[in-house]
Amino acid sequence: MTHLSEPVAFPQDRTCPYHPPAAYDPLRAGRPLTRVTLFDGRPVWLVSGHAAARALLADPRLSTDRTRPGFPSTTPRFAALRDRRTALLGVDDPEHHTQRRMLVPSFTLKRATETRPRIRSIVDERLDAMVAQGPPAELVGAFALPVPSMVICELLGVPYADHEFFETRSHRLLRGPTVAETEQARLDLEGYLDGLIDHKQKERGTGVLDDLVHEQLAAGELDREELVTLALVLLVAGHETTANMISLGTFTLLRHPERLAELRADPALLPAAVEELLRLLSIADGMLRVATEDVEVDGTVIRAGDGVVFSTSVINRDEGVYPDPDALDWRRPARHHVAFGFGIHQCLGQNLARAELEIALPRLFERLPGLRLAVPADDIPFKPGDTIQGMLELPVTW
Ligand code: HEM
Repeated sequence: MTHLSEPVAFPQDRTCPYHPPAAYDPLRAGRPLTRVTLFDGRPVWLVSGHAAARALLADPRLSTDRTRPGFPSTTPRFAALRDRRTALLGVDDPEHHTQRRMLVPSFTLKRATETRPRIRSIVDERLDAMVAQGPPAELVGAFALPVPSMVICELLGVPYADHEFFETRSHRLLRGPTVAETEQARLDLEGYLDGLIDHKQKERGTGVLDDLVHEQLAAGELDREELVTLALVLLVAGHETTANMISLGTFTLLRHPERLAELRADPALLPAAVEELLRLLSIADGMLRVATEDVEVDGTVIRAGDGVVFSTSVINRDEGVYPDPDALDWRRPARHHVAFGFGIHQCLGQNLARAELEIALPRLFERLPGLRLAVPADDIPFKPGDTIQGMLELPVTW
């Protein structure tokens, strides 16, 4: 048992894939900030209170620049990648603002809404293919991964024919297992995207990357290396995260049959249900920052150079904001959760992700009304705590 005087280790593996690890219970005791220790024994602040999280995520004195001294590393592989440039997620304003401004028009709610018919056909094509080959099926490979992967490919102008290449590298980039494999995955992806940019310079296509090549790169507003890292962030963030939400969202709904029945009976509940799933599952469970100056929050001073970690699963279960926080309940207002982050780095793809989830989840259950797990729930492997949360495999039948 963990004593309060003993700092909790962060991150840890979840015991149930849709709840924070039981070992995080002391972090849910009501204090907005607690000291935790990282894998290398380093103490950092863990933010668990909702109000404190939003205040700190909006505070320019907390930096996402991984090259700054004191920036926390949650795994050895992350530590090994710290010196590499990371667009958007790894830069502070004003550089961040310049990069983000170039992309915002491609990720508005209006653009996501216009993409819905195409998302619907991609979802239906994948379901047709699954039905033609099964039952049973492995849902991650057959549905949860290909849907967002195809969507982001079309949006960016990346050929989906290369999906095996970039999906395996993205997976290794986020999970390793070794430092060398993580580094190699990054080099492979950068090399691939660099070649793609060469090709687009000769022949303009219709994706967001084509626009960046022929507008911002051509005008000198972006340099080549910056464009490659930007493309990498968009490609990886654009498919891995949503794929995990689809697989873990499906698993969670199958484990809550009474909620699933409500949703089937009243599709108008869908947007609220997606918001509540985002809150409860909090798949990006560990946003990282370093303080550049002393910052006071609720009487606690975070010193310049201190590392700060935000556990979204714990923040999104702040009892003062979400009563009975472990329950899946779409009648509560789940708005203001931080599953997409908050402040200047708040998820650029959130409109697109919501559109994908609002289409993929109901269509899966409509098309396969008898959908169920093909093996006992306890035998289904899910991802370890040091990466984006989700299912490694999801064997289903119908
Ligand atoms: C359900 C799926 C998704 C979840 C849960 C999610 C979660 C997040 C979170 C928590 C952040 C903030 C990280 C931080 O502040 O440290 C973020 C940022 C970001 N996300 Fe997402 N994301 C999702 C889907 C997407 C999609 C589909 C895209 C499409 C390209 C995307 C692109 C990005 C980008 C580019 C950033 C960095 C924004 C910036 O630094 O300004 N995400 N996401």
